[in-house]
Amino acid sequence: MKIFLDTAQVDIIEQYVPTGLIDGVTTNPSLLSKVGGQPLEVIKKIIHLLPKGDISVQVTYKEPAKVYEQAKAIATLADNVIVKIPCHAQYYPVIHKLIKEGIRINITMLFSLSQALMMCKLGVTYISLIVGRLDDVNGDGIAVAHDIRVMLDQYNFETQLLLASIRSMSRAQDAVASGADAMTIPPVVLECMMKHTLTDRGIAIFDADWHKLGVKQFP
Ligand code: E4P
Repeated sequence: MKIFLDTAQVDIIEQYVPTGLIDGVTTNPSLLSKVGGQPLEVIKKIIHLLPKGDISVQVTYKEPAKVYEQAKAIATLADNVIVKIPCHAQYYPVIHKLIKEGIRINITMLFSLSQALMMCKLGVTYISLIVGRLDDVNGDGIAVAHDIRVMLDQYNFETQLLLASIRSMSRAQDAVASGADAMTIPPVVLECMMKHTLTDRGIAIFDADWHKLGVKQFP
């Protein structure tokens, strides 16, 4: 399962790259706005940090013709850039055209099995199911993820299911169990996933017991 970091904070991404766990980064206008500065410079730094990772960069225009041009410009930033486009019906022809031109797309703001089917038929690379925002409105994001997984396998679609808006360790574990191909998580969730209190406690016990031996060198 791929793990993407859902952040535009370059210093934080840099901190986790050496763990070898990060397969990419997902950004969106809100995350870039939170960081401030020049978004293009921020994106270039992220690309540089993970030259082999998938870096999702979202379109910001709304008018379909402009979305098409912007998507093409984003795709030329680097080979590992994935263009993120919201799953709005007005963009379907644009998405279709971009895919025919070989551009890799991550569909965002996707909330249903039906939307997932449409995007798989178009042949997008990733569909981002926005789990947390479905949960926010009393939906069940993970149940939708399970349904999409079944559909992907049943019809042999190549599109990968990416679970986004994962805001807790418990939801991240649900995401793993759902059989999704990837999940994008904020650094705080990754941090929780990497740790366990019993691991810390166990190490402390080993350390205390070892020191009782008074051994100076081992081996
Ligand atoms: C994906 O990149 C989404 O934009 C992101 O995961 C949304 O997360 P949020 O609902 O916590 O803002």
